[in-house]
Amino acid sequence: MSNTTGQPLLFTPLTLRGVTAANRIVISPMCQYSANGGLPNQWHQQHISGLAAGGAGVVIMEASAVQDRGRITHGDLGIWSDAHGEALAPLAQIIRDSGSVPAIQLAHAGRKASMQRPWHGNGPLDQTDAARGELPWDIVAPSEVPTGDEFMVPHAMTVAQIDELVDDFAAATIRAHKAGFDLIEIHGGHGYLIHSFYSPLSNLRDDEYGGSRENRMRLPIRVAAAIRANWPDDKPLFFRVSGVDGAEGGWEVEDSVALAKELKKVGVDVIDCSSGGIAAATSPVARGLPRGPGFQVYIAEQVRREADIATQAVGLITDADQAEKILQDGDADLISIAREALYNPYWPRHAAQQLGADDAFSEWPHQYGWWLERRAIARAKIAK
Ligand SMILES: Cc1cc2nc3c(=O)[nH]c(=O)nc-3n(C[C@H](O)[C@H](O)[C@H](O)COP(=O)(O)O)c2cc1C
Repeated sequence: MSNTTGQPLLFTPLTLRGVTAANRIVISPMCQYSANGGLPNQWHQQHISGLAAGGAGVVIMEASAVQDRGRITHGDLGIWSDAHGEALAPLAQIIRDSGSVPAIQLAHAGRKASMQRPWHGNGPLDQTDAARGELPWDIVAPSEVPTGDEFMVPHAMTVAQIDELVDDFAAATIRAHKAGFDLIEIHGGHGYLIHSFYSPLSNLRDDEYGGSRENRMRLPIRVAAAIRANWPDDKPLFFRVSGVDGAEGGWEVEDSVALAKELKKVGVDVIDCSSGGIAAATSPVARGLPRGPGFQVYIAEQVRREADIATQAVGLITDADQAEKILQDGDADLISIAREALYNPYWPRHAAQQLGADDAFSEWPHQYGWWLERRAIARAKIAK
């Protein structure tokens, strides 16, 4: 499978506004829960260096909180102060130097903040965490509806707090630009603050931010517009949506199409189509989508077709032929890889080998490619 130039689509460059990704592979944002006070450290350098060496077109830094209370855990990265923004600059540079587009995900965890790191239990912070010095903090949401029975009850945000939040997204945008990022993704999924505004399951407000779908979409659209107003015109803006809640009475793909149309109007370029996360995993309403290879691709396809906007497919995409087929079928414009890249940070380079897009290892860093090409020739001779 290839396009008219003979290259597989997965390895065809994509230009969005003034930014060109060398291929269609995006490393999905992945929280490392390893920051101190929201600041990156040696682990982040190692992690990002590894992913950046893999050769993806875009590498998106993990969810970075625009307010300190917007962190999921004590270990989340932040971008709520200038010092935090400056600390991210070396990571953006590592990604750029490797030839990938440096991107960052801006986030607020909302009612899913004040949680334990996954390996400490993945639930709300408790006594065990307090003994470790990790105290819980006040959390906010559209309404006083907790994520699940055992979760903290959030404070319903006032309109003044909503205005402040929008300003904080705008300030984080300016910091992301100064830090050298060329692409922002808004974290609008997985049950975090923005998602909890548009989902009818978590938003019970009766003001202009709740009730009708139009009202529930007001905050995500305001955030996107504020970011666009503070982000250079030539830099792309992505929005990660939970395309469906996967829960009774929840948000559906048709709603995501409607949201995507509005986001497009305020300057969002790509909808990154994920799903779920609005309810605790233990909740009876948290059905979620049945998991299988590419289980969320249908959302990217429908949003792309009906909202006429570029989409990114994500979720259990692990094989190069699978990724290429998604693009060839016109289901999405970009392919996002998360856990597969933890397992194999060189996944994009291996995918290029599998699809015959880089037989001579010329896309690899010379330090490796020179040797690998010779090794391949030697192996081919042995195989004869
Ligand atoms: C370690 C880890 C951290 C994650 N952190 C984030 C995050 O910061 N923001 C986000 O939108 N999704 C996050 N996710 C979800 C992934 O971006 C991705 O959507 C999900 O893992 C499905 O893709 P996969 O099947 O390729 O892993 C995380 C996933 C993992 C495994």
